[in-house]
Amino acid sequence: MNEALRPNSIAKRDVAVHLHSQTNPKYLAEHGPLVVSEGSGVHITDSDGKAYLDAMAGLWCATLGFTNERLAAAASEQYSKLGFYHTFFNRTMDKATELAEKLVDLTGMAGGKAYFATSGSEANETMIKLAWVYHTVRGKPTKRKVIARERAFHGSTIVGASLCGLSFMHREFGLPLPGFLHTSAPFPYRGMREGEDEAAYVARLCADLERLIVSEGPDTIAAFIAEPIYAGGGIIVPPETYFAEIQKVLKKYDILALSDEIVCGFGRTGNWFGKDTVGYEPDMMALAKGLSSGHFPISAVVAKGEIYDAVYAFNEAGGNFGHGFTNSGHPVGLAVALEAIAIYEEMDVVDHVRRMGARLSGHFNELAKTSPIIGEVRGAGLMWGIELVEDKDTRAPFAPDLKVGLSFDHIAYENGLICRCMDDTLGYAPPLIVGEADVDEIAEKTEKSLRALEKQLGVR
Ligand SMILES: Cc1ncc(COP(=O)(O)O)c(C=O)c1O
Repeated sequence: MNEALRPNSIAKRDVAVHLHSQTNPKYLAEHGPLVVSEGSGVHITDSDGKAYLDAMAGLWCATLGFTNERLAAAASEQYSKLGFYHTFFNRTMDKATELAEKLVDLTGMAGGKAYFATSGSEANETMIKLAWVYHTVRGKPTKRKVIARERAFHGSTIVGASLCGLSFMHREFGLPLPGFLHTSAPFPYRGMREGEDEAAYVARLCADLERLIVSEGPDTIAAFIAEPIYAGGGIIVPPETYFAEIQKVLKKYDILALSDEIVCGFGRTGNWFGKDTVGYEPDMMALAKGLSSGHFPISAVVAKGEIYDAVYAFNEAGGNFGHGFTNSGHPVGLAVALEAIAIYEEMDVVDHVRRMGARLSGHFNELAKTSPIIGEVRGAGLMWGIELVEDKDTRAPFAPDLKVGLSFDHIAYENGLICRCMDDTLGYAPPLIVGEADVDEIAEKTEKSLRALEKQLGVR
């Protein structure tokens, strides 16, 4: 009997007492949760003993798989040496210094400083507070507003959610907060007009941004935030010149450029950071997830030297930088992150991701040739999306009520594959340690599930 139906099972008890993130409560009550018992490599096992290849690395984060002995040893060693300390009031630890040095070096942020936090949302909020300090110190305290983009996901705290450009993150909560604005998403497949080439499309996106800045007042805008490649918004790769052109507009109006690298960092896009894949030169970067392979909740901001200079100047009168989280620089998180980075370096994560990504996208592009419902395959590195459409020629989407993407997710799940639909785009971001056999398993299970979906839709 399915765990969800067994009396007194974890699934039954869970439904009674546990409020889940991003979960439909009615669906949960009717179907019960997936009770995950164990993980090994790129697979997880549920409480009925069924194995799944998790092609989303959990939540884009288990880059080194679901168990890793080296990360476990690094955590255990740190726990037995110093299980908690903090970085407030002039305190530090050797590993805080080492990780900060490593992050400044890897990101190439000249004269930069690293700040530690616990979650991606906190890292994004920290960047915004730093942007406010920066402008205030430079005599521009009215520069407070932040421009994010439609379709963006930047977190779930009140500011994180305000940055999101997704209505489901706003509607129950009366968000976004005032001063959190959104500009057009660079989405060539859906956004480019007929007859428009890439240069004209990018020029239009820049014009949209500039119009927003001018109408709000350039002296009110502090920062622009973007993921190099959209993750939760539907795995969207911007046009090649997008960031270079957008940055011209930001410079013109003295607006800081923030990069949310929470998914894109640490090799995911086929470079150490997504900014390098798309030619973005941010003033600050937010890192999380792959920083510790998700094995410990730790995040970081790396900011250019000028930003730190502002913090320094702001506090020159003797105050403190009034910001910090209890677990900013938790020693176990620092140890796990340092070990994760050591593993990335040893495995040459960039080369590995490029090779496995080429294999995965090769499979998906082959599948697109024979499937009547694959409109586009897009992505980079080991981050891929397959957009399903009703009509490949016109790009007409399926009616939302059909919930085609969700149907695929359910079929794939039955077939032992976890991916994640974003509307009708199927998302893949497997652990970065995938080998050829794992990539082939993802492709085989995707094909099998897609054929079943096509049959269900009556197109095969
Ligand atoms: C791009 C991006 N930014 C920010 C966040 C928020 O991170 P957290 O859930 O750790 O607060 C996420 C989480 O998925 C994300 O994908």
